[in-house]
Amino acid sequence: MFKIIVALDSDLAIGYQGWMPWDLPEDLQHFKDTTDGSNLLMGSTTFMGLKRPLPNRKTYVVSSKPVAESENVVWVSDLTTFINKHKNSDTDIFVCGGASIYKQLLPYTKEMIISLVNGKHKSDTLFPSFEAELFDKQLIKTYVDFKVFRYIRKGEIA
Ligand SMILES: NC(=O)c1ccc[n+]([C@@H]2O[C@H](COP(=O)([O-])OP(=O)(O)OC[C@H]3O[C@@H](n4cnc5c(N)ncnc54)[C@H](OP(=O)(O)O)[C@@H]3O)[C@@H](O)[C@H]2O)c1
Repeated sequence: MFKIIVALDSDLAIGYQGWMPWDLPEDLQHFKDTTDGSNLLMGSTTFMGLKRPLPNRKTYVVSSKPVAESENVVWVSDLTTFINKHKNSDTDIFVCGGASIYKQLLPYTKEMIISLVNGKHKSDTLFPSFEAELFDKQLIKTYVDFKVFRYIRKGEIA
């Protein structure tokens, strides 16, 4: 099943000039702890923003152009086929952005782990707007600069 993991602010800002609009080491640590040992799905822009593939995870990279594959990096050229194959599987795939991937995966996502960052931020990339009433919301943890919420979809996915 797909689980979105994202850090956003109250205006849905997620990115600025190719990286996040904030510098929050605690949120990066939360991301690492949550996704450790799991599968990740991300767009080529987000993947290229990493210094190197994240260790101890399998990363599926969505791109129209071939991606250099390795033991832990897999190219996804056909996102629709990938979604249909994995949307109801028991294996978690964390959807890690960016905006284009969040938008395409949102209808097929059972759970979202959202870091809601305090304050307003200069941004050029937004998380897609979504119907919050379709999800149950739980506060998981409060940090100084952000709060982590879990959103669980009330109904079945399409
Ligand atoms: N705050 C957060 O939690 C968070 C998380 C992740 C990213 N971000 C931010 O989000 C921004 C990047 O987002 P983005 O939307 O510009 O880029 P992105 O979603 O990371 O990647 C876009 C690329 O993915 C590929 N792609 C997307 N859909 C496809 C499809 N259906 N079939 C084939 N290829 C597809 C294309 O690559 P090709 O051009 O190679 O074909 C496209 O150019 C950055 O600022 C980043 O820092 C923030």
